[in-house]
Amino acid sequence: MKATIAVLLLLGLFGLNTSFRTHFFVTEQITWKDAQTYCRKHHSDLSTVTKEEAQLLSSNTDATYSFSWIGLYEDPDRADEWIWSGGQMEEVDNWDTDQPDDNTQHCVSLNQSTSKLHDTLCSDMLSFYCMDAVETILVSQNKAWDEALDYCRQNYSDLVSLSSEIIEAEVINVTGKSQTDFVWTGLRFMAGHWFWVSGEDLQYEAWSVEGEPKCPAGNLRCGALDRNKKVWKAKDCEKRLSFVCIRKL
Ligand SMILES: *[C@@H]1O[C@H](CO)[C@@H](O)[C@H](O)[C@H]1NC(C)=O
Ligand SMILES: *[C@@H]1O[C@H](CO)[C@@H](O)[C@H](O)[C@H]1NC(C)=O
Ligand SMILES: *[C@@H]1O[C@H](CO)[C@@H](O)[C@H](O)[C@H]1NC(C)=O
Repeated sequence: MKATIAVLLLLGLFGLNTSFRTHFFVTEQITWKDAQTYCRKHHSDLSTVTKEEAQLLSSNTDATYSFSWIGLYEDPDRADEWIWSGGQMEEVDNWDTDQPDDNTQHCVSLNQSTSKLHDTLCSDMLSFYCMDAVETILVSQNKAWDEALDYCRQNYSDLVSLSSEIIEAEVINVTGKSQTDFVWTGLRFMAGHWFWVSGEDLQYEAWSVEGEPKCPAGNLRCGALDRNKKVWKAKDCEKRLSFVCIRKL
């Protein structure tokens, strides 16, 4: 199946205030089950969306079709119990009037124009939302960048990517107890460009006033976040700093 285009970045805070979800819109129209398979392969799962997130998703102008799949479906073992594909316990309080209304419709779609949920035949072909669900963890041990990367990959999932202003604000929040002013992120310079080691696109950027170091000296090729000034800076990879890991949920 082909990968798709519109990336919609937005967040819902859930549970611990250091966790968030990023939703991706996939325009291809397929069944709920196929959408679930796709999302589990390329992201965390089909999207879990609170009422607030549903409202944010409704402003997604890439969604030209009126309904899109989300991760909600009817528990096959318990009729009338609706559960999230990703396992979250988020309550569902944005059914449309008189929904759910049909006991042959076991999957749920979002009416893009109203942000309301409808039960829908699972075999319908709809575009859909996948999510990446992650938790951010400050590790208050000072390590060189390579060691920090190993630590995150072994104990969690990866070093953090600051891929949007909102995520960055969240990360700055979790670094409140850090002993160092700078913390390592997953930002690295190699083969002529900066990138996130977790593979995310480097679209959002927040370099310090000097701007992006186009040709950093050999030892200044690791990216740290200055949590006071809220900017990124190229630092000596051997410098020992606290760091922020992510755990994929
Ligand atoms: C979805 O929302 C639009 C806009 O309010 C509405 O016109 C349409 O009838 C809704 N679809 C269903 C099936 O309720
Ligand atoms: C993972 O965490 C444990 C406990 O803090 C630590 O002893 C271990 O060295 C970590 N792994 C790496 C690769 O740093
Ligand atoms: C940072 O944490 C505080 C307290 O936990 C919270 O009120 C605030 O909304 C958080 N800020 C962000 C950007 O998440």
